[in-house]
Amino acid sequence: MKNITVVGVGYVGLVTGACFADLGNRVTALDIDEERIAGLKRGELPIYEPGLEELVERNLAAGRLLFTTSYEDALQDAEFVFIAVGTPEGGDGEADLKYVSSAAESIGKMMSASCIIVNKSTVPVGTGDWVADVITANQDQSIPFSVVSCPEFLREGSAIQDFMNPARTVLGSLDLDAAEKVAQLHLPLRAPIVVTDLRTAEMIKYASNAFLSTKISFINEIANICEALGADVKEVATGMGYDPRIGPHFLDAGLGYGGSCFPKDVKALAYMAEEKGRHPQLLDAVMEINSDRRRQLAEKVRTALGDVNGKNIGLLGLTFKPNTDDMRDAPSVDIARLLSDAGAKVLAYDPVGMERAQAVMPSVEMVADPYSLAERCQALVVCTEWNEFKQLDLERLSEIMPVPLIVDGRNIYDPKVMAGLGIRYFGMGRGYGPDGNPLQETSG
Ligand code: UDX
Repeated sequence: MKNITVVGVGYVGLVTGACFADLGNRVTALDIDEERIAGLKRGELPIYEPGLEELVERNLAAGRLLFTTSYEDALQDAEFVFIAVGTPEGGDGEADLKYVSSAAESIGKMMSASCIIVNKSTVPVGTGDWVADVITANQDQSIPFSVVSCPEFLREGSAIQDFMNPARTVLGSLDLDAAEKVAQLHLPLRAPIVVTDLRTAEMIKYASNAFLSTKISFINEIANICEALGADVKEVATGMGYDPRIGPHFLDAGLGYGGSCFPKDVKALAYMAEEKGRHPQLLDAVMEINSDRRRQLAEKVRTALGDVNGKNIGLLGLTFKPNTDDMRDAPSVDIARLLSDAGAKVLAYDPVGMERAQAVMPSVEMVADPYSLAERCQALVVCTEWNEFKQLDLERLSEIMPVPLIVDGRNIYDPKVMAGLGIRYFGMGRGYGPDGNPLQETSG
């Protein structure tokens, strides 16, 4: 059992804290947001993440997980202090380090005994060294400490599973003894541990997210070409994925990546490159392809309906991906805006995201279920691939829609099934016309 403090109880901090507590450690989770901490003490979670509520409750009850707003209390016996605060996008695409900076200042001021600072937040290369300087500058008396970078690779919606079964743990520090101690903490997870220097560890995180984003933009570019040539990108991806050098993951074409990580991390990496005089050609293309997907989908709706002005358009799914209520950089926000700018009335349904979505899209009318939405709309647009949508009663849908039309931004339906039901269907790079026939044949 180790004493661990986690600074920041957002997605990453809360999952990290609850999981380390579940592994038998004594965890104090700190946040400066008093309301958040008061809620957590009562077992109320500020975010939706499958399995997290049970994990927090169990470890609160066992006394292994404590919540506080006091740095003094949190640092008293801490052997490890994880920094897991947000690093949002700054004005020019750079990562904004104000939360990391204030966490480091407070740690420096309140630290009363030697400890290891572990940075989980995604931070620009070189930040670990800077954090060490900020802590030192804020200490009244010199207390030794080490900084280790341990980037998180958690996906929202499966964050606990990802924490407990990581593909790898990356540790970066020049202090090998400190890295070894952090490695010990991760041993129960039985994953390969890569130990390197601070800057390289920080870069591994950016390079990983940039690579995954590139994979998504690559398949979206192929989708674009498939559409023009009459091929089906879903089958192309299946055929490619069996090659072990390519692999089947992250080859789903559609609306591109959104969320709190990929968009800001690719931008931040490009910014770091530019700052050092390197032109990030590929990253620029990845970002351009990604933002085009949203425009292309709105264009598809316009083409399908002739004109969207005065028409009701229903969005199926609002969150940036399924199994989360996170609306950060969700494609649905841009799509709703593009459609309302063109004169459409936008309505929507999402299984868990409607409350949060309403705050960012106040003019969109939220509807209680997919069928009530379908009844009132001239077109349904799939923005998020929730399982619930994969299992819709499509026959019922085809009967209740005034003129059945689905524009599927996530390719969850089979064009042939849709054609059989008399639903006009447009996917992303499917190479089929709305009548279910391959485009090349219908276009002669
Ligand atoms: C990601 C990384 O996976 C994680 O390692 C990192 O620490 C944080 O960022 P997350 O943003 O939660 O996690 O979601 P992820 O499941 O990776 O999906 C990211 C985005 O890519 C989503 O918008 C998703 O819809 C999109 N995506 C993913 C695709 O468009 N196609 C795919 O094939 C896969």
